[in-house]
Amino acid sequence: MSTQSFGLLKGKKGLIFGALDDRSIAWRVALACHREGAEFALSNAPIALRLGQLDALSKQTNAPIFACDVSKNEEVEQLMHQVKDAVGEIDFILHAIGMSPNIRKTKAYTDLNYDWFHQTLDISAISLHRILHYAAENVNIMRDGGSVVALSYIGAQRIFSKYSDMNDAKALLESIARNYGSRLGKRGIRVNTVSQAPTITSAGSGIKGFDGMFTFAEKLSPLGNPSADECADYCVTLFSDLTRKVTMQNLFHDGGFSSNGISEELIADLSTIYASESSS
Ligand SMILES: NC(=O)c1ccc[n+]([C@@H]2O[C@H](COP(=O)([O-])OP(=O)(O)OC[C@H]3O[C@@H](n4cnc5c(N)ncnc54)[C@H](O)[C@@H]3O)[C@@H](O)[C@H]2O)c1
Repeated sequence: MSTQSFGLLKGKKGLIFGALDDRSIAWRVALACHREGAEFALSNAPIALRLGQLDALSKQTNAPIFACDVSKNEEVEQLMHQVKDAVGEIDFILHAIGMSPNIRKTKAYTDLNYDWFHQTLDISAISLHRILHYAAENVNIMRDGGSVVALSYIGAQRIFSKYSDMNDAKALLESIARNYGSRLGKRGIRVNTVSQAPTITSAGSGIKGFDGMFTFAEKLSPLGNPSADECADYCVTLFSDLTRKVTMQNLFHDGGFSSNGISEELIADLSTIYASESSS
């Protein structure tokens, strides 16, 4: 992580969802926001807080922690009141939340458990709508000119089989970001998704076949896979005043993966594999 502070978030306040352990993208974003001078609250599901790791981040960044299951209206509403009391009105929100019971329990996409599918969509996508509803409308703790970033994955546009129903969740997440962004523009509030490359975190490595997806992306991307810290630096720019007219976008943060067809390295590797296959 860059150790230099540019003071990009001086005077800004925020709310960061999804820091579980020190590999979490949200954890790295919290450190980067702290480095840039922001003040913020941290939130995660009650079960995640029971693991106890978030206390260390809270101490390091002077951030209060609030439990909230983002699939529950009343918990999200209560959270906004708690954040307002503890931090005041906020300028930015990070949504770094994803979960699929179907992937966890290795259900095939063609044989999904529909209750779990609803949970996948609710926790990973509809929660962005719910958070925006309470943060920017109902309780309204969001300041005009603020910025909201939700983390996505290229499975929203192209199917990665191992990503199963999360492909659908990310497509919905990106659509909600556009839809809500169009409504909040009149207040100068922007809503974007950052489509991050495979990153070694608890959620990422919980996907069967993740290593293959990680290596494939690493070999195809001209710049290589970005780390969670690099993702955090990018999120900081989107929370800052330097990106005030960027909204309703899905922004690829993937080292060029999404625009590259194939790389010289992959061609060489595949030629070797298939040459040995055809000679055996
Ligand atoms: N790791 C990757 O390869 C990768 C790539 C692209 C996008 N992303 C996205 O980045 C985001 C953060 O994931 P991560 O990789 O840092 O993993 P992570 O496991 O550290 O974070 C996921 C978070 O979601 C939280 N969560 C799950 N259910 C919740 C609920 N009901 N209420 C509130 N919080 C809940 C978890 O507690 C956890 O903190 C996710 O949206 C993920 O899809 C990850």
